[in-house]
Amino acid sequence: MKQVLLEKYGRPEDGVRCAEVPDVGPPGPGEVVFDVLLFPVNPADISLCRGTYRLKPALPATPGAECVGRVAAVGAGVTGVKPGDLVINQQRENWAQRRRVKADDAIAVPAGIDLQQAAMLRINPPTALLLLTDFVGLKPGDWVMQNVANSAVGRLLIRLARARGVKTLNVVRRESLFAELTALGADACVVDGPGLAEQARGLIGGAPIRLGIDAVAGQATARMAACLAEDGVVVNYGSMSGEDPMMPRYVLSNMGVTLAGFTLGRFLARRSQAEVRAIYADLGGQVMTGALSAPVEKVYPIEEIHTAVAHAQRGERSGKILVQP
Ligand SMILES: NC(=O)c1ccc[n+]([C@@H]2O[C@H](COP(=O)([O-])OP(=O)(O)OC[C@H]3O[C@@H](n4cnc5c(N)ncnc54)[C@H](OP(=O)(O)O)[C@@H]3O)[C@@H](O)[C@H]2O)c1
Repeated sequence: MKQVLLEKYGRPEDGVRCAEVPDVGPPGPGEVVFDVLLFPVNPADISLCRGTYRLKPALPATPGAECVGRVAAVGAGVTGVKPGDLVINQQRENWAQRRRVKADDAIAVPAGIDLQQAAMLRINPPTALLLLTDFVGLKPGDWVMQNVANSAVGRLLIRLARARGVKTLNVVRRESLFAELTALGADACVVDGPGLAEQARGLIGGAPIRLGIDAVAGQATARMAACLAEDGVVVNYGSMSGEDPMMPRYVLSNMGVTLAGFTLGRFLARRSQAEVRAIYADLGGQVMTGALSAPVEKVYPIEEIHTAVAHAQRGERSGKILVQP
């Protein structure tokens, strides 16, 4: 079978290779074997390949934080899924044609779900959801602010916020995105830059913003923090700039704005497996109705993994890069 091997840290397109490796073999007791149908190339995968991610496995390693697959076989004692079911995998190393995992890690998704959306279900939809629910108690009519608003997480967050009656102020890098984000449900859009706080106040009539959601870091965190109301919270959940988040001292001390951090794994770990599965059932249902989706720019075969990985690092993409093993 084919599997992507990361053989050196550095430029991701130089480090990955599509290799022929032995098959995963039949499932043991309590295990599931599934054929991987599609996987995305996420910023976290790129960061892992660069060697800058929080996990730095010994090489060669197989990247791949998520995927969708179809169950090929189940081992003794497995009752939750059966051959033919579509599943997402709670474990990593998914850039391969086939995976053998513990049955507890395979979560069935509805038959007939859009496969591209299912491939992107494990990480970004619950991230957008928990960023909205786990830091600030938001009521209908409240404003939240986010940057990378045209990212997959950003677009999902716009939809989830809108469904709760929460208003979004969306920060992006170019004005040409305003129309499509407004069509998605964005209440206000602004281009990031030095005058962000004044522009934000003007756009939303000085309404208080108690939650800022930041995946750029560096000075972008500071610009966002300066937009927040007293005692507001900036949650940093990514670093597209490659920098650490910066907080202006006067915002910390005089405004009482705090900086919090988020990783999905840490926040899911606070929940029981039943609660986690309920989250995925709800989000999968919203994908089925079309309420939640993320755009896709291009799908590559696994043999072209280096091109896929290079493409995923381009700015101004219209959507995700997926790979079909
Ligand atoms: N903490 C967690 O558990 C967790 C979970 C999921 C995602 N994340 C993070 O969430 C963020 C978005 O992920 P995604 O999968 O939704 O991304 P995505 O769909 O691949 O989109 C990437 C986004 O990053 C923007 N971007 C790229 N380089 C940038 C830079 N130097 N400065 C500012 N913006 C830049 C792009 O803007 P342009 O269109 O202008 O190029 C685009 O909006 C990433 O940082 C990812 O690591 C974190």
